[in-house]
Amino acid sequence: MNKIIEYLPVNSTGVNNIKKIELFSKNGDSRGFYDLANQVNDLTGKEWVFSTKSVIPKGYPPSFQLNLRNKHGGQKPPELCEKLIKTFTKEKDLILDPFCGVGGTLIACNLSNRNGIGIEINQEWIDIYHNVCKIESIPPQRVIKGDSREILRNFSEDPNFMVDFILTDVPFWKMDTIEKSKGTYKKVGEESKGIYSDKSKLTRFNPNSQDSQQKKLEWELLIKETFSECFTLLKPGRYCAVFIGNMYNEGRYHLLNADIARILSQIGYVLKSEIIWYDVNKKLHLYGINYSWIPSIVHQFIMVFRKERSEKLTQEEKDKIRAKNLQMTEKG
Ligand SMILES: C[S@@+](CC[C@H](N)C(=O)[O-])C[C@H]1O[C@@H](n2cnc3c(N)ncnc32)[C@H](O)[C@@H]1O
Repeated sequence: MNKIIEYLPVNSTGVNNIKKIELFSKNGDSRGFYDLANQVNDLTGKEWVFSTKSVIPKGYPPSFQLNLRNKHGGQKPPELCEKLIKTFTKEKDLILDPFCGVGGTLIACNLSNRNGIGIEINQEWIDIYHNVCKIESIPPQRVIKGDSREILRNFSEDPNFMVDFILTDVPFWKMDTIEKSKGTYKKVGEESKGIYSDKSKLTRFNPNSQDSQQKKLEWELLIKETFSECFTLLKPGRYCAVFIGNMYNEGRYHLLNADIARILSQIGYVLKSEIIWYDVNKKLHLYGINYSWIPSIVHQFIMVFRKERSEKLTQEEKDKIRAKNLQMTEKG
Protein backbone atom coordinates (compact mmCIF):
# COMPACT_ATOMS: atom_id res chain seq x y z
CA MET A 1 0.00 0.00 0.00
CA ASN A 2 2.06 2.94 -1.30
CA LYS A 3 1.02 6.46 -2.13
CA ILE A 4 3.29 8.45 -4.44
CA ILE A 5 3.40 11.95 -3.12
CA GLU A 6 6.25 13.91 -4.56
CA TYR A 7 7.97 14.19 -7.92
CA LEU A 8 11.31 15.45 -9.11
CA PRO A 9 11.39 18.32 -11.68
CA VAL A 10 9.75 17.51 -15.04
CA ASN A 11 12.99 17.04 -16.98
CA SER A 12 13.61 13.74 -15.14
CA THR A 13 12.30 10.65 -16.89
CA GLY A 14 10.82 7.22 -16.13
CA VAL A 15 10.69 5.84 -12.58
CA ASN A 16 13.30 8.34 -11.50
CA ASN A 17 10.88 11.23 -11.46
CA ILE A 18 9.24 9.88 -8.30
CA LYS A 19 10.93 11.41 -5.25
CA LYS A 20 9.13 10.24 -2.11
CA ILE A 21 6.66 7.49 -1.34
CA GLU A 22 4.47 7.07 1.71
CA LEU A 23 4.96 3.66 3.32
CA PHE A 24 2.57 1.78 5.58
CA SER A 25 3.11 -0.87 8.22
CA LYS A 26 1.28 -4.22 7.97
CA ASN A 27 -1.50 -2.93 10.23
CA GLY A 28 -2.09 0.04 7.93
CA ASP A 29 -0.41 2.81 9.94
CA SER A 30 1.66 5.32 8.01
CA ARG A 31 5.41 4.85 8.56
CA GLY A 32 6.07 8.25 7.00
CA PHE A 33 7.66 9.16 3.67
CA TYR A 34 10.47 7.26 2.09
CA ASP A 35 12.92 9.17 -0.12
CA LEU A 36 13.96 7.13 -3.15
CA ALA A 37 17.39 8.78 -3.03
CA ASN A 38 18.08 7.06 0.33
CA GLN A 39 21.56 5.51 0.03
CA VAL A 40 21.86 4.22 3.60
CA ASN A 41 18.78 2.33 4.76
CA ASP A 42 15.10 1.58 4.19
CA LEU A 43 13.82 4.01 6.83
CA THR A 44 11.27 6.71 6.18
CA GLY A 45 12.13 10.28 7.20
CA LYS A 46 10.19 9.90 10.46
CA GLU A 47 12.00 6.64 11.32
CA TRP A 48 15.37 8.14 10.34
CA VAL A 49 14.91 11.01 12.82
CA PHE A 50 14.34 8.52 15.66
CA SER A 51 17.32 6.43 14.58
CA THR A 52 19.68 9.37 15.17
CA LYS A 53 19.19 9.42 18.95
CA SER A 54 22.55 9.02 20.65
CA VAL A 55 21.14 7.20 23.69
CA ILE A 56 19.11 3.98 23.65
CA PRO A 57 17.61 3.68 27.15
CA LYS A 58 16.17 0.19 26.86
CA GLY A 59 16.27 -3.20 28.51
CA TYR A 60 15.38 -6.16 26.33
CA PRO A 61 13.19 -8.99 27.61
CA PRO A 62 14.57 -12.53 27.28
CA SER A 63 14.22 -13.87 23.75
CA PHE A 64 15.78 -16.35 21.33
CA GLN A 65 16.70 -18.88 24.03
CA LEU A 66 18.45 -16.35 26.24
CA ASN A 67 18.99 -19.11 28.82
CA LEU A 68 21.24 -20.86 26.28
CA ARG A 69 22.93 -17.72 24.95
CA ASN A 70 23.53 -16.55 28.53
CA LYS A 71 26.24 -19.18 28.88
CA HIS A 72 28.39 -16.83 26.82
CA GLY A 73 28.10 -13.83 29.15
CA GLY A 74 28.78 -11.24 26.43
CA GLN A 75 25.73 -11.92 24.26
CA LYS A 76 23.87 -8.94 22.82
CA PRO A 77 20.08 -8.63 22.41
CA PRO A 78 19.19 -9.55 18.81
CA GLU A 79 16.49 -6.83 18.85
CA LEU A 80 19.08 -4.14 19.61
CA CYS A 81 21.30 -5.48 16.81
CA GLU A 82 18.25 -5.46 14.52
CA LYS A 83 17.69 -1.76 15.26
CA LEU A 84 21.31 -0.97 14.34
CA ILE A 85 21.18 -3.12 11.21
CA LYS A 86 18.00 -1.37 10.06
CA THR A 87 19.67 2.00 10.64
CA PHE A 88 22.78 1.25 8.60
CA THR A 89 21.67 -1.17 5.88
CA LYS A 90 19.03 -2.04 3.34
CA GLU A 91 17.17 -5.31 2.92
CA LYS A 92 19.30 -8.17 1.58
CA ASP A 93 22.55 -6.37 2.46
CA LEU A 94 25.45 -8.45 3.76
CA ILE A 95 26.54 -7.92 7.36
CA LEU A 96 29.80 -9.15 8.83
CA ASP A 97 30.43 -9.92 12.50
CA PRO A 98 34.08 -10.96 12.98
CA PHE A 99 33.50 -11.84 16.69
CA CYS A 100 30.02 -13.35 16.48
CA GLY A 101 29.82 -15.26 19.80
CA VAL A 102 26.40 -16.88 20.18
CA GLY A 103 24.99 -14.85 17.32
CA GLY A 104 23.29 -11.60 18.47
CA THR A 105 24.12 -10.00 15.11
CA LEU A 106 23.32 -13.12 13.10
CA ILE A 107 19.87 -13.63 14.62
CA ALA A 108 19.20 -9.93 13.95
CA CYS A 109 19.98 -10.56 10.26
CA ASN A 110 17.06 -13.01 10.15
CA LEU A 111 14.83 -10.51 11.95
CA SER A 112 15.62 -7.80 9.41
CA ASN A 113 15.79 -9.89 6.23
CA ARG A 114 19.52 -9.29 5.75
CA ASN A 115 22.32 -11.77 5.13
CA GLY A 116 24.90 -12.36 7.82
CA ILE A 117 28.32 -13.87 8.04
CA GLY A 118 29.98 -14.52 11.37
CA ILE A 119 33.40 -15.63 12.53
CA GLU A 120 33.98 -17.15 15.96
CA ILE A 121 37.06 -18.79 17.43
CA ASN A 122 35.24 -20.87 20.03
CA GLN A 123 33.23 -23.89 18.81
CA GLU A 124 31.11 -23.91 21.99
CA TRP A 125 29.53 -20.56 21.05
CA ILE A 126 28.95 -21.65 17.46
CA ASP A 127 27.18 -24.80 18.70
CA ILE A 128 24.93 -22.72 20.95
CA TYR A 129 24.08 -20.41 18.04
CA HIS A 130 23.14 -23.37 15.84
CA ASN A 131 21.11 -24.90 18.64
CA VAL A 132 19.19 -21.62 19.14
CA CYS A 133 18.45 -21.47 15.38
CA LYS A 134 17.18 -25.05 15.46
CA ILE A 135 14.89 -24.50 18.45
CA GLU A 136 13.61 -21.20 17.04
CA SER A 137 13.25 -22.67 13.51
CA ILE A 138 15.29 -19.93 11.89
CA PRO A 139 17.71 -20.70 9.06
CA PRO A 140 21.24 -20.18 10.41
CA GLN A 141 23.48 -17.59 8.79
CA ARG A 142 26.96 -18.60 7.64
CA VAL A 143 29.41 -19.02 10.53
CA ILE A 144 33.09 -19.80 10.13
CA LYS A 145 35.16 -21.18 12.97
CA GLY A 146 38.61 -19.69 13.39
CA ASP A 147 40.67 -16.63 14.10
CA SER A 148 38.96 -13.71 12.37
CA ARG A 149 42.30 -12.24 11.27
CA GLU A 150 43.14 -15.31 9.20
CA ILE A 151 39.65 -15.87 7.84
CA LEU A 152 39.29 -12.22 6.82
CA ARG A 153 42.70 -12.25 5.15
CA ASN A 154 41.47 -15.13 2.96
CA PHE A 155 38.26 -13.24 2.15
CA SER A 156 40.18 -10.17 1.06
CA GLU A 157 41.88 -12.22 -1.65
CA ASP A 158 38.52 -12.31 -3.43
CA PRO A 159 37.96 -8.81 -4.88
CA ASN A 160 34.24 -9.54 -5.30
CA PHE A 161 33.67 -10.22 -1.61
CA MET A 162 32.56 -6.95 -0.02
CA VAL A 163 30.22 -6.32 2.90
CA ASP A 164 27.64 -3.58 3.49
CA PHE A 165 27.97 -3.26 7.26
CA ILE A 166 30.14 -4.51 10.08
CA LEU A 167 28.39 -4.98 13.41
CA THR A 168 30.41 -6.54 16.17
CA ASP A 169 31.16 -6.70 19.81
CA VAL A 170 34.87 -6.97 20.46
CA PRO A 171 36.33 -9.41 22.95
CA PHE A 172 37.20 -7.43 26.04
CA TRP A 173 40.79 -6.91 27.02
CA LYS A 174 40.70 -10.27 28.81
CA MET A 175 37.46 -9.13 30.44
CA ASP A 176 36.64 -12.81 30.49
CA THR A 177 38.94 -13.09 33.48
CA ILE A 178 37.58 -10.17 35.50
CA GLU A 179 35.86 -10.81 38.78
CA LYS A 180 32.30 -9.58 38.82
CA SER A 181 29.61 -9.55 41.44
CA LYS A 182 26.11 -8.74 40.26
CA GLY A 183 24.11 -6.36 42.46
CA THR A 184 26.47 -6.88 45.34
CA TYR A 185 27.97 -4.73 48.08
CA LYS A 186 31.66 -5.31 48.31
CA LYS A 187 34.66 -3.68 49.95
CA VAL A 188 37.81 -3.85 47.90
CA GLY A 189 39.50 -7.18 48.55
CA GLU A 190 36.55 -8.54 50.55
CA GLU A 191 34.02 -11.24 49.78
CA SER A 192 30.76 -10.07 48.19
CA LYS A 193 27.75 -9.63 50.44
CA GLY A 194 24.16 -8.49 49.94
CA ILE A 195 20.85 -9.84 48.80
CA TYR A 196 21.91 -10.07 45.15
CA SER A 197 25.28 -11.56 45.98
CA ASP A 198 26.47 -14.23 43.60
CA LYS A 199 29.92 -15.71 43.56
CA SER A 200 31.66 -15.11 40.28
CA LYS A 201 32.99 -18.01 38.23
CA LEU A 202 35.60 -15.63 36.87
CA THR A 203 39.11 -15.22 38.18
CA ARG A 204 40.88 -12.13 39.49
CA PHE A 205 42.36 -9.65 37.09
CA ASN A 206 44.93 -6.94 37.85
CA PRO A 207 45.38 -4.38 35.07
CA ASN A 208 48.51 -2.96 36.74
CA SER A 209 50.51 -6.15 36.50
CA GLN A 210 53.07 -6.77 33.75
CA ASP A 211 50.85 -9.56 32.52
CA SER A 212 47.81 -7.36 32.09
CA GLN A 213 49.83 -4.68 30.29
CA GLN A 214 50.93 -7.40 27.92
CA LYS A 215 47.32 -8.56 27.54
CA LYS A 216 46.24 -5.02 26.77
CA LEU A 217 48.84 -4.79 23.99
CA GLU A 218 47.69 -8.14 22.63
CA TRP A 219 44.10 -6.89 22.71
CA GLU A 220 45.04 -3.72 20.84
CA LEU A 221 46.88 -5.79 18.24
CA LEU A 222 43.87 -8.08 17.77
CA ILE A 223 41.63 -5.02 17.26
CA LYS A 224 44.10 -3.40 14.86
CA GLU A 225 44.64 -6.51 12.75
CA THR A 226 41.00 -7.56 12.61
CA PHE A 227 39.62 -4.14 11.74
CA SER A 228 42.35 -3.56 9.14
CA GLU A 229 41.15 -6.69 7.31
CA CYS A 230 37.52 -5.59 7.78
CA PHE A 231 38.36 -2.18 6.27
CA THR A 232 39.41 -3.80 2.99
CA LEU A 233 36.14 -5.76 2.87
CA LEU A 234 33.79 -2.90 3.73
CA LYS A 235 32.20 -1.14 0.74
CA PRO A 236 33.05 2.56 0.49
CA GLY A 237 30.41 4.79 2.06
CA ARG A 238 29.24 2.05 4.44
CA TYR A 239 29.35 1.82 8.23
CA CYS A 240 30.96 -0.19 10.99
CA ALA A 241 29.46 -0.27 14.51
CA VAL A 242 31.36 -1.67 17.48
CA PHE A 243 29.95 -2.49 20.91
CA ILE A 244 32.38 -1.70 23.70
CA GLY A 245 32.01 -1.18 27.43
CA ASN A 246 34.41 0.85 29.52
CA MET A 247 35.63 -0.69 32.73
CA TYR A 248 36.69 0.18 36.24
CA ASN A 249 39.33 -2.00 37.78
CA GLU A 250 41.88 -1.77 40.57
CA GLY A 251 41.17 1.89 41.26
CA ARG A 252 41.14 3.11 37.66
CA TYR A 253 38.61 3.71 34.94
CA HIS A 254 39.61 2.47 31.48
CA LEU A 255 38.22 4.21 28.40
CA LEU A 256 38.24 1.27 26.04
CA ASN A 257 35.89 3.14 23.70
CA ALA A 258 38.62 5.76 23.28
CA ASP A 259 41.11 2.99 22.47
CA ILE A 260 38.74 1.63 19.83
CA ALA A 261 38.23 5.13 18.37
CA ARG A 262 41.99 5.71 18.21
CA ILE A 263 42.87 2.35 16.66
CA LEU A 264 40.11 2.38 14.05
CA SER A 265 40.80 6.02 13.11
CA GLN A 266 44.44 5.10 12.50
CA ILE A 267 43.27 2.38 10.10
CA GLY A 268 41.19 4.90 8.11
CA TYR A 269 37.67 4.61 9.53
CA VAL A 270 36.04 7.94 10.32
CA LEU A 271 34.37 8.13 13.72
CA LYS A 272 30.81 9.37 13.28
CA SER A 273 29.26 8.93 16.70
CA GLU A 274 29.02 7.05 19.91
CA ILE A 275 25.62 5.64 20.80
CA ILE A 276 25.10 4.86 24.45
CA TRP A 277 23.07 1.79 25.19
CA TYR A 278 21.71 2.24 28.72
CA ASP A 279 20.55 -1.20 29.73
CA VAL A 280 17.79 -0.28 32.16
CA ASN A 281 17.49 -3.94 33.25
CA LYS A 282 21.10 -4.19 34.35
CA LYS A 283 21.60 -4.94 38.00
CA LEU A 284 23.88 -2.68 40.01
CA HIS A 285 27.47 -3.66 40.63
CA LEU A 286 28.34 -1.89 43.86
CA TYR A 287 31.92 -1.65 45.07
CA GLY A 288 33.63 0.46 47.74
CA ILE A 289 30.49 1.82 49.42
CA ASN A 290 31.32 4.37 52.18
CA TYR A 291 35.00 4.19 51.25
CA SER A 292 35.38 5.15 47.66
CA TRP A 293 32.98 6.17 44.88
CA ILE A 294 33.04 3.60 42.12
CA PRO A 295 30.60 3.68 39.19
CA SER A 296 27.97 1.02 38.73
CA ILE A 297 28.29 0.64 34.98
CA VAL A 298 24.91 0.16 33.35
CA HIS A 299 25.78 1.38 29.86
CA GLN A 300 27.82 0.34 26.87
CA PHE A 301 28.94 2.23 23.82
CA ILE A 302 28.23 1.51 20.21
CA MET A 303 31.01 3.30 18.36
CA VAL A 304 29.90 4.19 14.83
CA PHE A 305 32.47 4.55 12.04
CA ARG A 306 32.26 5.00 8.30
CA LYS A 307 34.59 4.09 5.48
CA GLU A 308 34.29 7.28 3.47
CA ARG A 309 34.06 7.20 -0.31
CA SER A 310 37.05 8.57 -2.14
CA GLU A 311 34.75 9.77 -4.95
CA LYS A 312 31.18 11.01 -5.06
CA LEU A 313 28.51 8.75 -6.62
CA THR A 314 27.90 9.29 -10.33
CA GLN A 315 24.40 10.16 -11.58
CA GLU A 316 24.18 6.64 -13.03
CA GLU A 317 24.92 5.08 -9.63
CA LYS A 318 22.36 7.36 -7.98
CA ASP A 319 19.74 6.34 -10.55
CA LYS A 320 20.46 2.67 -9.86
CA ILE A 321 19.90 3.21 -6.12
CA ARG A 322 16.65 5.05 -6.87
CA ALA A 323 15.39 2.19 -9.08
CA LYS A 324 16.32 -0.41 -6.45
CA ASN A 325 14.60 1.62 -3.73
CA LEU A 326 11.47 1.86 -5.84
CA GLN A 327 11.46 -1.93 -6.25
CA MET A 328 11.75 -2.32 -2.46
CA THR A 329 8.77 -0.04 -1.81
CA GLU A 330 6.64 -1.83 -4.41
CA LYS A 331 7.33 -5.14 -2.67
CA GLY A 332 6.43 -3.76 0.76
C1 LIG B 1 31.98 -10.02 23.15
S1 LIG B 1 31.89 -11.58 22.40
C2 LIG B 1 30.65 -11.40 21.15
C3 LIG B 1 29.28 -11.71 21.62
C4 LIG B 1 28.23 -11.58 20.53
N1 LIG B 1 27.94 -10.21 20.22
C5 LIG B 1 26.93 -12.28 20.91
O1 LIG B 1 25.83 -11.68 20.84
O2 LIG B 1 27.01 -13.46 21.27
C6 LIG B 1 33.39 -11.69 21.50
C7 LIG B 1 33.64 -13.03 20.88
O3 LIG B 1 34.84 -12.99 20.13
C8 LIG B 1 35.42 -14.28 20.15
N2 LIG B 1 36.84 -14.14 19.75
C9 LIG B 1 37.89 -13.73 20.49
N3 LIG B 1 39.01 -13.68 19.75
C10 LIG B 1 38.66 -14.05 18.49
C11 LIG B 1 39.37 -14.17 17.26
N4 LIG B 1 40.67 -13.90 17.17
N5 LIG B 1 38.69 -14.56 16.17
C12 LIG B 1 37.37 -14.85 16.22
N6 LIG B 1 36.64 -14.74 17.37
C13 LIG B 1 37.27 -14.35 18.49
C14 LIG B 1 35.20 -14.75 21.57
O4 LIG B 1 35.23 -16.17 21.65
C15 LIG B 1 33.84 -14.15 21.88
O5 LIG B 1 32.80 -15.09 21.70
